[in-house]
This record gives sequence, C-alpha cells and structure tokens, in this order.
Amino acid sequence: MSGTAGRGSVEVVPAQGGPGAIGAEVRGVDVRRADERDLLAVRDAVLRYSVVALRGQELGPEDQIGFLDRLHPLRPRVINDFTLPGHPAITVISNIVEDGRPIGINDAGILWHTDTCFLADPDLFASLYAVEVPSTGGDTHFVSTAAAYEALTDAQRQRFEGMRVVQSYALSIEKMRDRGLLRRAHSVEQARASMPDVEQPLIKTHPVTGRKVVYANEAFSKAVVGLPADESDAVLSALFEAVTSPPHGYTHRWQAGDLLIWDNIATQHLATFDYGDQRRLLYRVSTAGPGAR
Ligand SMILES: [Fe+2]
Repeated sequence: MSGTAGRGSVEVVPAQGGPGAIGAEVRGVDVRRADERDLLAVRDAVLRYSVVALRGQELGPEDQIGFLDRLHPLRPRVINDFTLPGHPAITVISNIVEDGRPIGINDAGILWHTDTCFLADPDLFASLYAVEVPSTGGDTHFVSTAAAYEALTDAQRQRFEGMRVVQSYALSIEKMRDRGLLRRAHSVEQARASMPDVEQPLIKTHPVTGRKVVYANEAFSKAVVGLPADESDAVLSALFEAVTSPPHGYTHRWQAGDLLIWDNIATQHLATFDYGDQRRLLYRVSTAGPGAR
C-alpha cells in the first residue's frame, strides 16, 4: 500500500510473515509536519497491521502528544509516579536513575498484557517514542489478540462468547511481587486501593474494525465471572497460551527516534530486560478508549 502525500510519498511496508502477519513500517511521514493524508495513512496502517513503526523521528514531548491526539482523543492524564515533568500525558519508561531516584518505570511490560484493560474504557491506541536505547536488547514483542480469536475452535468460540473476565491491576502487582520481578515502590494493597477491578467481555468486539479479539492476558486477567476457580484458571491458561503462541508475532528492535504506535485492543505486548545497565529511555503516550470522541 502506498500513496502520495503533500510532502512526498508515504509507503507502508509490512513486516515479513505473509497473510495475517502483524507489524509494518510507515515511511515518508514526518510526524511533526504530518498532514491529514499522512495521519489517515498511519491510522489505517495501525488498524490493519496492529503495530506500526515510524523511524527516524525527532520529536519533542508535545509532538508525540499532539500526533496521538490527532489519531484519537488523548488519555489526558496518566495516573502514576513517573509522568514527565510538565507533560502529564507522558509516562516515562526507563532504567535511568538520577540523584538516587529512578526517573521512570523500570518494570513495565514484564508479563504479557494489553495496556489499561483494568479501566472501564481501555486505551484504543498507545505509543512509545525512543529517546535513548541500548545498542542491543530491550526488544518489545507483540502478538495479535484477533489472530488468537480466529485460531479458536467453533466450540471454544461458542463457549467463551458472552463470558466476562475480571481485569485487575492489583493482580499484576501481586504476580510481579511473587515472582521477584517488582521494581517499583508500590504495594499490592496500594494497587488495590487505587485501582478497583473491572469486568470486561472475555471475547471483545473491536470498536473500530469489528474484529473479535481474545481479551484475556497474563498480567491482569484474574478470573472468569461465574466459573469455579479451577475452571476459570483452566480457561484463562488456555487463552493465555492461545494468544502468546500465535502463527505470527512482531518483534520491535528499537532505534533512537522510533515512534511505535499500536492498536491496544488488537494486540498484547511484552518487554525484554536483557540490556543490563545500558541506558534506556522511552516516552509513552496513549489515547483514551473508543468511547471518546
Ligand atoms: Fe504496556
């Protein structure tokens, strides 16, 4: 797919993998100067390929915020301890410590997850901009929740359709703590108090594409409503397995200047922590949920 925009041609280059693969690079768009046609090309690519990279960008915080806000109304303020000073819509993801204090979240994405599924109206699009990255390592892996649905048997689809799942922010903190992976000063009790559990459909219809997706993930999905604990655990384990072992995934190998934008309902992602003490600094901006207009 390619087209001609006002300032040159826009090219969408799918990642390798054949039919059903996710991931693409959009070339020829300068995010700071994007016109409406550029914007539509990026939005279409995100919805079609689920994860899109725009490389070689030179963005300030307001450039990233402004571009995401043009894709879909912004999630205006993120509630955490690591927003960028002066820019509350940006969450800092980093292992950098300054004056003895971490400047960002250093344990984000340690388990497979969809961002903010523990909110009633989870983020539609999310983005990360690479300010500083290690020379190797720190890849981010993506899988398709839509492909996972399509791989279910008819019997599974019939069984899971109509079920609801409890999504719990506190569960993710508890799992990270129990596995020795928690690196933030945040207790399970604080998580529980600050973010109540919510129920979501186990099989969700994507609000824009209409595709059905498996809406269960290892980090946040706690229980299937109305099922005995052992049955609920079995259903969730089967779905985690189905989602995270798809025919196609996408792995993003970061370069400074990359803006990565993903469809947060059609995907799950996982961070890797294999870069030792090499500095890594990413800015995260997301949009509000599909209900926002
Ligand atoms: Fe995430």
